[in-house]
Amino acid sequence: MTDEEAKRQAAVAALAYLPDSGVVGLGTGSTSDYFTREVAKLCQQGRKLVGVPTSKRTRALAESLGIPLLGDEGPWSIDVCVDGADEVSPNFDLIKGGGASHTREKIVNAAARFNVILVDESKLSNTLGTRCPLPVEVLQFGHASTQSHLERWGRPVLRKKGEQVVCTDSGNFVYDLHGQIKDPCELNTRVACIPGVVETGLFLGRANVVLVGSPNGCRELARP
Ligand code: 5RP
Repeated sequence: MTDEEAKRQAAVAALAYLPDSGVVGLGTGSTSDYFTREVAKLCQQGRKLVGVPTSKRTRALAESLGIPLLGDEGPWSIDVCVDGADEVSPNFDLIKGGGASHTREKIVNAAARFNVILVDESKLSNTLGTRCPLPVEVLQFGHASTQSHLERWGRPVLRKKGEQVVCTDSGNFVYDLHGQIKDPCELNTRVACIPGVVETGLFLGRANVVLVGSPNGCRELARP
């Protein structure tokens, strides 16, 4: 089984959490894309599901597949949101934002009554910040000043793709804050207070279920 098949297995397993009819948060990323494709198949079969996409990219994919969608403005009454993650701790805290979509993802996650997270084994770690840095979305205005404040909490690196600075769907920059996170709650509180910070990629206490795709199929982690 390839890694891609592991992602698809996790996405298929997430379908068990969908209501017969209702509103579904559609995450962003390669794993979430598999889930979006599965939701599209259900819609084609007549299931009354409506999506709330967490990024422009996911909206474009869902639209192209014919999934009925709600607007970006909210408020939404979301039954379940299914999304990927970059790192998952044993107590279900998450780092997200590898796709620079964590602010929208966090808004949709917070509007959902139930959140399912899809990962593979490589995303599990005992200490957040071990396998990936923490993405922090910041305003372009004064971003170098914001960076200097972030330096107190780790090593911030402005995200670029080649020579091009990455911009989020809202036109902001992302700093990837490197370093192990000993106290995610404190770090989140401190970093969120820095002027210019829009949102961190820490999702604390916001995952109800974590599904782990692996070469052996898909397993559900026991909730701590
Ligand atoms: C995007 C995210 C993604 O969910 C995260 O990066 C995981 O992506 P993938 O499934 O491609 O590994 O947080 O902002």
